Amino acid sequence: MKNRINIIHGDITKVAVDAIVNAANSSLLGGSGVDGAIHRIGGKQILEECQKIRAKQGGCSVGNAVITRAGNLPARYVIHTVGPRWGGGKQNEAELLRYCYLNSLTLAYDNNVSTISFPNISTGVYKFPKEYAAEIALQTINESLSNDSTIKQVNIVCYDIDNYNIYNKMIQNL
Ligand code: APR
Repeated sequence: MKNRINIIHGDITKVAVDAIVNAANSSLLGGSGVDGAIHRIGGKQILEECQKIRAKQGGCSVGNAVITRAGNLPARYVIHTVGPRWGGGKQNEAELLRYCYLNSLTLAYDNNVSTISFPNISTGVYKFPKEYAAEIALQTINESLSNDSTIKQVNIVCYDIDNYNIYNKMIQNL
């Protein structure tokens, strides 16, 4: 499966795919980091659709994901998922991060997405240890791809060089 996983060093808003995954917060109203970039570049259509989702179901709980169109981004969809804040490792953080990847991929399958980009969820403001997060991400994505052929390519877009080096090393042993 690993030949369907690309590790990219760059800005997720610049890579054209069917779906870009956003590391959002439960309010779905935007923030800093990749959330800030996606709303800034994507424009108000994304926020408007997030506000409709909020009106219907409230925000998005940790580990869950919602889907909107992508406004001005080079994509059809944005999948907003809310990663866990790192609290030391005893608050089910690993399981919740795994669900972020699983639930994002389920929404991708349900919407006939064939190319998708993930950021390194929870490893910025939420301070999840990068190596541990990479292990969870690669394992979950790899498992999910082995059960489904809809998705042809998963990009893991690493904005910082630390994550890029971690993923490049770890994917060799996948
Ligand atoms: N493209 C790709 N990755 C990016 C970009 C970008 N343009 N900008 C930041 N990143 C990377 C960070 O370097 C980090 O590795 O995304 C990863 C996740 O970091 P954050 O964006 O801080 O997300 P997270 O740690 O999940 O925290 C989410 O931050 O922005 C707020 O509203 C958001 O409250 C939420 C919290």
